[in-house]
Amino acid sequence: MAEKHTIVLIPGDGIGLEVSQAVVAVLNAADAPLTYEERHAGLIALDDGHDVLPAGTLDAVRRHKLALKGPCTTPVGKGFTSVNVQLRQKLNLHAAIRPVRSLAGVPTRYQDVDLVIFRENTEGLYSGIENEITPGVVTSLKVATEAACTRIARAAFEYARKRGRKKITVFHKANIMKQSDGLFLRCVQRVAEGFTDIVHDALIIDAGCMRLVQDPSRFDILLMENFYGDVISDLAAGLVGGLGVVPGANVGDAAAVFEAVHGSAPDIAGKNIANPLALLMSAVMMLNHMHETRGDERCKQAAERIKTAYNRALGDGCKTADLGGCLGTSQFADAVIERL
Ligand code: NAI
Repeated sequence: MAEKHTIVLIPGDGIGLEVSQAVVAVLNAADAPLTYEERHAGLIALDDGHDVLPAGTLDAVRRHKLALKGPCTTPVGKGFTSVNVQLRQKLNLHAAIRPVRSLAGVPTRYQDVDLVIFRENTEGLYSGIENEITPGVVTSLKVATEAACTRIARAAFEYARKRGRKKITVFHKANIMKQSDGLFLRCVQRVAEGFTDIVHDALIIDAGCMRLVQDPSRFDILLMENFYGDVISDLAAGLVGGLGVVPGANVGDAAAVFEAVHGSAPDIAGKNIANPLALLMSAVMMLNHMHETRGDERCKQAAERIKTAYNRALGDGCKTADLGGCLGTSQFADAVIERL
């Protein structure tokens, strides 16, 4: 029998524990050729007396080059630096790729959303450089480098060409942040010159938000810096049924970490009601990525089986509470497994 691929499983905390368990059950039932090295991060790691992002977790991702990750809580206004931001910066996972699609069986006011968000993942306002200049005055530095702006633009254009997508729209605020967002726009423009087959345009982000909620179907690929990408990801999730249905990949040159857009949802954690679909879709992205980068047909087959099964489950009305259904996390996973 051919070897399996070892990936790092980081369950995270909050609903991460429930949804990752459900997803691994589906992956195993679908014969995904995977074995798991489980590593901790976030509150769970802290409770065990480790760093919030233990060196062993980082080393494991560097070694296996792939991770499936649940969400990790970050304290608001105080406490440790976000595990997610640290992970992306330390592993140089420079591109966050988040497909946002309407799903049959998940009715929303829009039917034909099919867009992909490309978010620069390592700098911008999330560089973590904040200072108290004097009591009552703080600054937060927004960092834009030509290298990172060019890299994310190239990633978006290459993805568009490879996937047959036609148009890239940049969201920016270069009318106010003339230098940082201005640099972003110039880098996109330069990269675009090598991709004359892909149309591109740019929108000031406030107007972009309005157009997005008026008619999301007019957008194809959205490209933006870190902070805007974070906010727009949740906004876009709201167009297709919520955070329970939007997956994501954080991709770098040496590793890739697949995780849902949603957070640890402390309001529903431990109740077996969270939707595991966003993490399951992230796992499907991981399997497709493995097929592309490692050429293993078994990964593609497992990805297709899982995708067909969750679409069938949704079509049959099997849904968690966030989508108006009544199944719990593990029951939804069972419904997918029955349809594999
Ligand atoms: P959140 O995404 O955890 O939750 C927002 C709302 O969506 C909540 O009402 C929650 O119940 C609901 N929700 C989220 N995922 C769901 C799912 N799978 N099924 C059903 N409902 C779901 O965002 P929030 O509350 O702002 O953040 C909570 C914590 O998560 C914070 O500490 C934040 O820093 C962290 N976070 C971590 C992320 C990561 O690890 N990648 C990403 C976003 C937030």
